[in-house]
Amino acid sequence: MMRVVSGIQPTGSLHLGNYLGAIRNWVQMQQDIQGDCLYFLADLHAISLPHDPKELAANTREMAAALVACGIDTDRSILFNQARVPAHAELQWLLNGTARMGWLNRMTQFKDKSGKNREGASIALFTYPVLQAADVLLYQATHVPVGDDQKQHLELARDIAQKFNNDFAREDAPIFTLPDPIIPKSGAARIMSLRDGSAKMSKSDPSDMSRINLTDDADTILQKVKKAKTDPEPLPSSAEGLEGRVEAQNLVGIYATLAGTTVDAVLSQFGGQGFGAFKPALAELLIETLGPISARFNDLRADTTALDAILVKGAERAATLAAPTLAATYQALGLQR
Ligand code: TYM
Repeated sequence: MMRVVSGIQPTGSLHLGNYLGAIRNWVQMQQDIQGDCLYFLADLHAISLPHDPKELAANTREMAAALVACGIDTDRSILFNQARVPAHAELQWLLNGTARMGWLNRMTQFKDKSGKNREGASIALFTYPVLQAADVLLYQATHVPVGDDQKQHLELARDIAQKFNNDFAREDAPIFTLPDPIIPKSGAARIMSLRDGSAKMSKSDPSDMSRINLTDDADTILQKVKKAKTDPEPLPSSAEGLEGRVEAQNLVGIYATLAGTTVDAVLSQFGGQGFGAFKPALAELLIETLGPISARFNDLRADTTALDAILVKGAERAATLAAPTLAATYQALGLQR
């Protein structure tokens, strides 16, 4: 049996990087696999950076609406927010005894997010990857669909699982399953900023022009694509010609992913032409894909009662699946409850 688990932080709105790097795979896997899919809003992770409590509550519902708009089917998949399932926070504490300082010190996300203010960063930002490990190990996840930037966190989850099994379980009866990351093979694994081809597209970029949000209307998408940074050369006729042209590579990669084709196939159509011809075609493709999602999102977002009901039901189902692993972990550690 496969068990698919993944999460997204409910900060800001869903952008094209989230969609192509992860959410599309979530939707696909819910249709394809035999077993349960659990998808959650990582609201506990969101308190690792300064935040506004009212906004967090609203964003959590909005992100749930966005996921349903993208195609998450709440009958087939279990959709919930982390804070409603206390087992996540409990298992994190239990795993804190196994995770090593040295392992966490190597996490690049902490270095990026704490920046020059390491001493002023929250403890939560530092132990963030342990909570992420708890998120997946709690459910015996076999597959975790994520973008490339989460790979290091998944490797840490495997290390924690392995050490815990070694230290506290019999060899023939491990407590935790080692999860495999599922990362898109094409350019979708890492969608880059529209303003800087060397930075990933991200919710935390202060410039909204750097990303396509799933809620952007057609005109905004067209403007953002038109203003996207490029270089003065025409497009090459094959993928090798994109080497060193990070912005061009990103835009062609997005086009290929959306069209369900290869970079070479896109370049055989647009090779030799300038961005003046390519950009409107890319914008059109984006509008075609995102238009229906944003229309569904707008229908769903206002009904907060319905969204809360989805999350409450999802949390109940998740808590039931989490209970045996949490109990086994307490027991293995010699803790009585
Ligand atoms: P988050 O909220 O930053 O992103 C959600 C998902 O979107 C992917 N992603 C991207 N993929 C391609 N290109 C991009 N520019 C891009 N930006 C984001 C991310 O890789 C991710 O899959 N720590 C996680 C949330 C989390 C989690 C988990 C994930 C908490 N617990 C357990 C998996 C399993 C995060 O902040 O993702």
